[in-house]
This record gives sequence, C-alpha cells and structure tokens, in this order.
Amino acid sequence: MKKVVILGDSGHSKVVADLIHSNEGMSLTAKLDDRYDEVFVGEGVTKGPISHLRQLLQEESNIYVVLGIGSNVVRKKLVKELGVPRSSFISLIHPTAVISPSAVIGLGTVIMPRVVVNADTIIGDHAILNTGSIIEHDCKVADYTHISPQAILAGGVAVGEGAHIGAGASVIPLKTVGEWSTIGAGAAVVSNINRKVTAVGVPAKEIRKEGI
Ligand SMILES: CC(C)(COP(=O)(O)OP(=O)(O)OC[C@H]1O[C@@H](n2cnc3c(N)ncnc32)[C@H](O)[C@@H]1OP(=O)(O)O)[C@@H](O)C(=O)NCCC(=O)NCCS
Repeated sequence: MKKVVILGDSGHSKVVADLIHSNEGMSLTAKLDDRYDEVFVGEGVTKGPISHLRQLLQEESNIYVVLGIGSNVVRKKLVKELGVPRSSFISLIHPTAVISPSAVIGLGTVIMPRVVVNADTIIGDHAILNTGSIIEHDCKVADYTHISPQAILAGGVAVGEGAHIGAGASVIPLKTVGEWSTIGAGAAVVSNINRKVTAVGVPAKEIRKEGI
C-alpha cells in the first residue's frame, strides 16, 4: 500500500484526497499545512505543519508526497523550499481518465476524473489536469501548470511553465501559451500568447502583462 501525504489542506486538497481514495493500493496518511502549529490526528489522518514532512519521510516506508495547492506559484515555491528528492513525489490519476500509452506524465501531477490525454503528449511535474479537460496529441504541458475543468488543448499545443488555462477555454492546434500566463475562462486562443500575461475572450486578447 502506498501511503500518500498531501501538502496543503484547503479546497484543492479535498479533490486530491478523493483521487487518492479512488486509487486501489493508495491510502491518505497525512495532510500537512502551515496553518497547523502542531501535529495531531484529525478526520482519521495525521495533520500538522509542512515541516513535519521530513520526519514522516524518515520514519515511514513506502510514503509519497503530492501537492494539494491550487496556486501554480505556491506549488513551485514549495517544491524548491522542500528540497526532497523528485522520487518522493507521486502522480495521481483518476480511474476514469483516459491516458494514451505513449503519453508521458511527470511526477507530482494530478489528473482528475474524465480527463483525456492523447498520443505523444508530454505533461510535466506538479501539473493539475482538472476535471474533464482534454489534452490532444503531441502537446507539451510544462511543470506547475493548471489546465482547468473542461479546457481543451488541441493537437501540438505548448503550455509553458506555470501557465493557467481557465475553465472551458480552448487553444487551437500548434499554438503556444507562454510561461506563467493566465488564459481566462471560456477564452479561445487562436494565436500565440506571450509569457506572463493575462488573455481573455474569443478570440483571446491580452488584457494585462505580468498576469500571475
Ligand atoms: C482572466 C481572469 C484571471 C481575470 O481575473 P482578474 O484579473 O481578477 O480580472 P477582472 O475580473 O478584474 O477583469 C478584468 C476585465 O476582464 C474581463 N474578464 C475577466 N475574465 C474574463 C473572461 N474569462 N472572459 C472575458 N472577459 C473577462 C472583465 O469583465 C473585466 O473587463 P472590464 O475591464 O471591461 O470590466 C479571470 O476572470 C478568469 O477567467 N479566471 C479563470 C478562473 C478559472 O477558470 N478557474 C478554474 C479553477 S478550477
């Protein structure tokens, strides 16, 4: 049985906990969050500050870590600060997700119900592929990205590190969304989007720079 620790104990972590429960052979062992000052048992799992992770990794075997934090910026910051080996992280894939055998999924990435990832797509580490999103063939989705519910990336799309594609947004084939950019909910991306901008609408237009 793989024992999984979730870092973060708020909204997104609830969905990540459900993912763990939906996977046979995994159990949720702890939820760590810096809003806790001390270690205690709550709702049947260990809770405590994130600093408790080191002790858990030392004391327990077969233990893995996943981030239950929605902010792409915070997930990256935390991974850098933790300094734990990459192999400590585990990816979680809901049983209803359809993942091509030729797709590559990074470590620490969470894939929610009814996601589709098609052939030869590469997903980085610590990404969130949210409920019902579709990532078509030959896409490259970098680390710390978030593809929101029902968003669609057509074939050959590239999404840079930390970028957030809003709920129900679409990106047409072969376009690039630059790193740390945000695409608004419902947008249609029909041209390349620069890095660190916010773009909204149909077709998507930049409304702000440094949009993270
Ligand atoms: C794009 C987004 C990040 C902008 O948020 P924001 O920086 O707070 O922007 P504001 O709400 O101040 O809106 C700025 C302008 O953009 C418009 N706008 C905002 N989001 C828009 C969208 N998705 N589509 C079209 N226009 C949008 C607003 O109407 C406003 O227009 P105005 O200046 O003419 O009044 C946000 O609206 C959004 O769509 N986020 C996606 C959220 C999501 O899908 N989350 C999934 C979680 S699971």
